[in-house]
Amino acid sequence: MTGIAVYPGSFDPVTRGHEDLIRRARRFADRLIVAVAVNPAKQPLFSLDERVALIRRVVDDPAIEVSAFDGLLAEFARAAGATLIVRGLRAVSDFEYEFQMALMNRNLAPGIETVFLVPAFDLTYLSSSLVREVARFGGDVSSLVHPAVQQALKKKFGG
Ligand code: PNS
Repeated sequence: MTGIAVYPGSFDPVTRGHEDLIRRARRFADRLIVAVAVNPAKQPLFSLDERVALIRRVVDDPAIEVSAFDGLLAEFARAAGATLIVRGLRAVSDFEYEFQMALMNRNLAPGIETVFLVPAFDLTYLSSSLVREVARFGGDVSSLVHPAVQQALKKKFGG
């Protein structure tokens, strides 16, 4: 067990893959902060408030907090008193970017370690961008996201 862990991401929108990672990360943190990045480099489908609200709908654990953050993740994690940053590693293609980020975050906040968790086997291929694309063209995403997220996607795409 550790103290506080931060699980950061864009969560545009939160998927069953994220939910799985949240559950796994929670097992070794007393408190888990799901940190939703503003990320000005991306044009999200859901607003920051919508992304935060959807995660709050799907997460039901008083030890899990959902927060938005702007700026550097390392700064946010340090200010929150976290000792761990949790990221999911789905495929080899994730590795280079994740490795770079982990090293940079350690450079910025030497007291904070990044740990990588492997998602459930059947959720390994899943990503928010795929979910958005399938939903945009009217495909069935019911097995990929929580019903609240499915509803929100339908509303976005006028289904
Ligand atoms: O879900 P994503 O889009 O893969 O998450 C990426 C995220 C938000 C974790 C990353 O872009 C991030 O940490 N952004 C905050 C700004 C920052 O700290 N950038 C430097 C990372 S080394």
